[in-house]
Amino acid sequence: MKLITAIIPPDRLDHVREALIQADITRITVSRVSGHGRQEDIEYYRGQKIAPNLIPKVRLDIAVNDQYVDTTIDTIIEAARHAAGKIGDGKIFVTPLEQCIRIRTDERGGSAI
Ligand SMILES: Nc1ncnc2c1ncn2[C@@H]1O[C@H](COP(=O)(O)OP(=O)(O)OP(=O)(O)O)[C@@H](O)[C@H]1O
Ligand SMILES: [Mg+2]
Repeated sequence: MKLITAIIPPDRLDHVREALIQADITRITVSRVSGHGRQEDIEYYRGQKIAPNLIPKVRLDIAVNDQYVDTTIDTIIEAARHAAGKIGDGKIFVTPLEQCIRIRTDERGGSAI
């Protein structure tokens, strides 16, 4: 099992969710977050580096069984990327997932996903 965390531009959220549903990835957590990626131009004030402005983003958390990892990633990339790719299009992190438990039934592991 893997936890796929994607940070995407808010204007791509609906498109990404629709694409994931089409790919049979139907379980998702969506959070409104803010952050910054790498800085092309670091700004200075009186010789000190200035923290850049926080940019609103959307965070997706999707827990999947291993056979769905590639589809999930490919679908997010295709649906989230602006035409030709744009700075700030986002990032995907993949983390090993130790356990998953469906609270209602106490199922554990892959069948609980
Ligand atoms: N290494 C990181 N750790 C945590 N969050 C990150 C990291 N890189 C990016 N993010 C989050 O993802 C958002 C989008 O990142 P972004 O797409 O700007 O990445 P980037 O590395 O700057 O690439 P690009 O050059 O395409 O902009 C950031 O606003 C931040 O919230
Ligand atoms: Mg960036």
